[in-house]
Amino acid sequence: MKSSEFATRREQLMNEIGQGNIGLIASAKVRARNRDVDYVFRQDSDFYYLTGFNEADAVAVFIPGREQGEYILFCKEYDEKKALWEGAHAGLDGATTDFSADDAFPIDDLGDILPGLLENKAKVFYPMGRDASFDHQLMEWINHIRSQTRSGINAPGELVSLEHLMHEMRLIKSDAEIELMRFAANISCHAHIRAMQQCKVGRYEYQIEAELIHEFMDSGLRHVAYPSIVAGGKNACVLHYVENKSVLQDGDLLLIDAGAECDHYAADITRTFPINGRFSTEQKALYQLVLEAQLAAIEEIKPNTAWNNAHDVSVEVLTGGLIDLGLLSGELTQLIKDEAYKIFYMHRIGHWLGMDVHDVGDYKINDEWRVLETGMVLTIEPGLYISKDCLTVDEKWRGIGIRIEDDILVTETGYEVLTQAAPKTVAEIEALMN
Ligand code: GLY
Ligand code: MN
Ligand code: MN
Repeated sequence: MKSSEFATRREQLMNEIGQGNIGLIASAKVRARNRDVDYVFRQDSDFYYLTGFNEADAVAVFIPGREQGEYILFCKEYDEKKALWEGAHAGLDGATTDFSADDAFPIDDLGDILPGLLENKAKVFYPMGRDASFDHQLMEWINHIRSQTRSGINAPGELVSLEHLMHEMRLIKSDAEIELMRFAANISCHAHIRAMQQCKVGRYEYQIEAELIHEFMDSGLRHVAYPSIVAGGKNACVLHYVENKSVLQDGDLLLIDAGAECDHYAADITRTFPINGRFSTEQKALYQLVLEAQLAAIEEIKPNTAWNNAHDVSVEVLTGGLIDLGLLSGELTQLIKDEAYKIFYMHRIGHWLGMDVHDVGDYKINDEWRVLETGMVLTIEPGLYISKDCLTVDEKWRGIGIRIEDDILVTETGYEVLTQAAPKTVAEIEALMN
């Protein structure tokens, strides 16, 4: 991502914050995994969106109209010893030269400098409630300013959610963002293809996870967008299954929900295929139904259509198909009204996709489902999950879990499937695997 893209975002945010106000946001923290070992650092998406700065221990401050510079970055000072042990970091010079901050200060001086920047500002925009210790600290600074009102200094009177401004920005993707998402999507498709090719009865789910990671990293994408779900047989009925430690059984399906991250942008793909390379009659019947629902839902994607239409269409197709196959009995409209499908299809059709796999942005505005706009990216991922304990259906259906998930860009004329390189028809999958 070019630095001009980050500058444009900051400019847009400055306009929204407005003169006389201040915005601030802290970086993510390094979190301990166990003694002397940390979890892999992942920058806070909002912080990265505005700064492109990939370090912990940083706070970005935005003060529209400030004469000495509107964009201030507090970060770690360059420390040779730290560089030796922990690796490169920008330091104050890097913050201004490489990351375009107008001013940079040591993070250790935050408590001395930030209260002064808050003085006489009307509103403070910041992500409230995200970090209890930061909330507490900010209140202390504001209280300190309040105690000085008799000397003519005013404390901010309003705290406003920064997320609300930012998340509307993040919901509509720029060309540069779409390019990163397209790359993440394409590599992730190839990882799913590799998984299909390397899948064999008797291998472990985590060995297939390793194939996915191999493809991601070998293609230049170091991080997964979320922990991969590799779920054989009935494990696919556990929606967030991440144990990935069972043996792959002959005659079962394998559900894989996995995507890589490219420069903080996610792909999110699910494919379900037969471990031995051939769908059984029941697997094929349910699979075709989920695919039909998915294709019908994707057809609903175009600007000015309510976000919810795709979900409603998926419910209609799945409920109708479940009646035809004998898994539900009754009249279509009544079953939909009673939400009878929910024992087999218990989640919604999808979600916004971007820097976060479940990306930011409201789904309803004034209690109405929002309409789609060009540049939004979302997933379409219907599924059917027939629990092994579901006694209301014939035994032959039990323990089958299927989801098909693609990433869809809303275009001016309709949609583009970013993840179309991953096979999904029965014929394509069986041809690839045999
Ligand atoms: N991978 C998470 C989801 O599909 O929503
Ligand atoms: Mn998803
Ligand atoms: Mn997914």
